[in-house]
Amino acid sequence: MARTQVAIIGAGPSGLLLSQLLDLHGIDNVVLERQSRDYVEGRIRAGVLEQGTVDLLIEANVGERLLRERLVHDGFALAFADRTFRIDLKALTGGAVSVYGQTEVTKDLMEARVAAGAKLLFEAGDVSIEGFERDHPAVRYTHEGRTYELSCDFVAGCDGYHGIARRSVPAAAMQTYERVYPFGWLGILADVPPASHELIYSNHARGFAMCSMRSLTRSRYYLQCGLDEKLEAWPDARFWDELRLRLPADVAAALVAGPSIEKSIAPLRSFVVEPLRFGQLFLVGDAAHIVPPAGAKGLNLAAADVRLLFQALVERYRTGRTALLDRYSERCLRRIWMAERFSWWFTSITHKFSDDAFAQRMQLAELEYLTGSTAALTSLAENYVGLPFEGPPGMSSS
Ligand code: APR
Ligand code: PHB
Repeated sequence: MARTQVAIIGAGPSGLLLSQLLDLHGIDNVVLERQSRDYVEGRIRAGVLEQGTVDLLIEANVGERLLRERLVHDGFALAFADRTFRIDLKALTGGAVSVYGQTEVTKDLMEARVAAGAKLLFEAGDVSIEGFERDHPAVRYTHEGRTYELSCDFVAGCDGYHGIARRSVPAAAMQTYERVYPFGWLGILADVPPASHELIYSNHARGFAMCSMRSLTRSRYYLQCGLDEKLEAWPDARFWDELRLRLPADVAAALVAGPSIEKSIAPLRSFVVEPLRFGQLFLVGDAAHIVPPAGAKGLNLAAADVRLLFQALVERYRTGRTALLDRYSERCLRRIWMAERFSWWFTSITHKFSDDAFAQRMQLAELEYLTGSTAALTSLAENYVGLPFEGPPGMSSS
């Protein structure tokens, strides 16, 4: 039976980044991915990185193109009730965020792993984890019609929300928390210049809309849509028309429409599993938690998990001590719940939940309070740029 120190399931950003960091510290690992490399590299996801994520990517030696091509944003706009209000992240927190697509992060990581000769297997089928309660668990999988078994010290479940790692754990051993929202996001990617040089989150009576970007020539836009919407019902022209209706008039006038190069509908969900560790199995990233996309916390949370697991594994292999591994779940969960709260709240003030007049007035009152109070704005801004990787302010990580 083949052997490695850490078996990593999934080659999304979590699995690739963990593999890269472990490799830089001489810890042997194998990554098993169900899809092909092209499929993984083609997925379009969010595009806002907190500084802590940027720092970790630099530490992983994959920061070069990111630092060259990222767009640093020190503010964004909130539009509501025919007003546009700029949130000055820099003035409120001293910080900023980096706009750089997750697709590019994945490509950079993939290139680095392949160049380093990583043990990275694509199109691995029927992956299963055997005996993660034991000291040396094994991972079984099939590849090109043959079955293989890999013995390891630890398994990192980096296989996303639909993966097998979380599902391998008996339901009685974990607690899940979930909220499904009554709407989705219809997203479009197009090679047109962004309508505004900063991101815009727009609360509108027709539903939420947002303007984002991937570069100065590639734009990403979203519309809140019903859960039963079909993509076929949204030819490009209808998307652009509806977007204009939901944006401030000056932005709508500046909007450059063009053919979409990607269009998709995603449901919105909040989800957390507790704990994140089961014997020698550790859940990382989307396998353990999902946030709704407003605020773009998904990838940043995944990076924070990876950082703590990588540090814990380095400690274990350098010194034999397991103190950090033992605290992995608890340390991750503190930050996860803070990001869950922020993403849920930011969704709640920007989206249309119902036609209920009272609820709409409460939302408007909240937006008016927020934009009129430096205390409230600072709270929004410090969450948006990212809480410290160790946990929320004032909360000791010891
Ligand atoms: N066996 C092997 N690989 C699997 C399996 C399986 N049974 N199931 C899923 N995978 C792979 C998927 O194909 C995918 O490539 O695991 C990977 C999981 O990647 P992501 O879903 O991207 O999750 P993660 O790496 O945790 O990324 C964090 O940040 O912005 C958010 O949700 C966004 O993907 C993003 C996340
Ligand atoms: C994106 O660019 O895809 C994006 C940006 C900010 C968000 C969500 C998505 O809050």
